[in-house]
Amino acid sequence: MNKTYPVAANEPVLNYAPGSPERESLRNELAAQKNVCREIPAVVNGERVFGATATAVRAPHEHDRVLANLYHADQKTVQAAVDGALAAQREWSSWSLQERSAVFLKAADLLAGPWRARLNAATMLGQSKTAYQAEIDSACELIDFLRFNVQFAHEIAQMQPQNSAGVRNRSEYRPLEGFVYAVTPFNFTAIGGNLAIAPALMGNSVLWKPAATAALSNYMFMELLEAAGLPKGVINFVPGDAIEISNIALSHPELAGVHFTGSTAVFDTMWSEVGRNVARYRSYPRLVGETGGKDFVLAHPSADAEALAVGLLRGAFEYQGQKCSAASRAYIPASLWPVVKARLVAMVDTIKMGDVCDFSNFMGAVIDRRAFDRIRGYIYRAREDANADVLVGGKCEDRTGYFIEPTVIEVKDPRHALMQNEIFGPVLSVYVYQDAEWDEVLKLVDGTSPYALTGAVFATERAAILQAQQALRFAAGNFYINDKPTGAVVGQQPFGGARRSGTNDKAGSALNLLRWVSPRTVKETSA
Ligand code: SER
Repeated sequence: MNKTYPVAANEPVLNYAPGSPERESLRNELAAQKNVCREIPAVVNGERVFGATATAVRAPHEHDRVLANLYHADQKTVQAAVDGALAAQREWSSWSLQERSAVFLKAADLLAGPWRARLNAATMLGQSKTAYQAEIDSACELIDFLRFNVQFAHEIAQMQPQNSAGVRNRSEYRPLEGFVYAVTPFNFTAIGGNLAIAPALMGNSVLWKPAATAALSNYMFMELLEAAGLPKGVINFVPGDAIEISNIALSHPELAGVHFTGSTAVFDTMWSEVGRNVARYRSYPRLVGETGGKDFVLAHPSADAEALAVGLLRGAFEYQGQKCSAASRAYIPASLWPVVKARLVAMVDTIKMGDVCDFSNFMGAVIDRRAFDRIRGYIYRAREDANADVLVGGKCEDRTGYFIEPTVIEVKDPRHALMQNEIFGPVLSVYVYQDAEWDEVLKLVDGTSPYALTGAVFATERAAILQAQQALRFAAGNFYINDKPTGAVVGQQPFGGARRSGTNDKAGSALNLLRWVSPRTVKETSA
């Protein structure tokens, strides 16, 4: 059947092989951006606003290099951004879905073409991603969000009620009344973008508070949206003090929704704030959040040891373990452990870490001083701990950049803090269980952590896979069988988790977009 709406396809991942044109243009962009210090203002109703205070945006792998000055939006500016958003929404929400879609499809084409190298370079320099990690984030995933959201929005528009004799019914997918507050993380340029564009596509206007550490790529995406024809005021970019901005946004009577990715603690605070203010709002705000994780890899004795070792390595250490989905606790049967351990340690030993502009490095630096100190603290405490054994890695070096070696720690107690706390860095904790304890281990995996974002089971016996799938039904929103728990692809693995990992409103699916509409049911009887 011919579809009457645009059907998306995943953007192919470029490989940046030596001598490829994409490597050449990325190199040129890196060289150009590295040596310029950009001035990043707030964007309020299309106007650039340079606040009185600014912070330096630094390259995590070369922290003396200032990439940009980020100007904070003060209270007056945030207020103006909310007013701008509310004013812009009146016009924007009268555009048809097709008209709004055209802006985002144009943005996708620009990003797939001339803007690709620019945004990838900004993500590499500002967030310390390797070329491959930037490509799957600020190019492919973001392009996919732009295109698949359009497809999903059209599918939603086609969800219509039935008619009966003399009665015509329809659902009209109105935007929310008010503005959506998007608070976005450092670790994915694509998530930052999507938290702003998903509500905007559905006809909402947005106040976008980026993470300071991702401001370089996020601001560039804002410029890209403008180049694609996004009208002024639909998305307002307000960097600055999170508490100050949130105080204004969350107490505003026109707050229509919160679209958040970040820590559980911050989302808790925002949720409480909304609760405190609930009687002030014109409508109950939609609260959509993706928060923490303590993502697991569980191996059954029948697992393929090689696939498991590779899954652990990539799941735990790509992007320095700073994906919300990163493998962080592993449960390995004693019968498999010697071979998996040997393979894992050998592979970790070959990992190259350093400046991401050197394409041969597999890892860059962790995002900032605070992250470095937190992760180093876990590693140092493990070294002193008789119940923990640092098997490989563990060196932390911050002279030029915030480098932490990929680290594997074996623990004797399955309820050790290393198996429970979110570390958000390149640290994999492993508990080795006796093969006969498989049933108990399933309970441990389910009960050890309050989070439930991603998880993976490795097994070749079908019965074990089925058993794990059932026993861990609520332990992960994204469950992987014989694969690492990272790397969800838009349109293929809708992403999100429940419990203390968030509201599970699956990014990259119609379920997420449904949170940004307030349907009106219209019944018309024939006269
Ligand atoms: N969506 C990312 C992944 O699946 C994490 O945020 O790795």
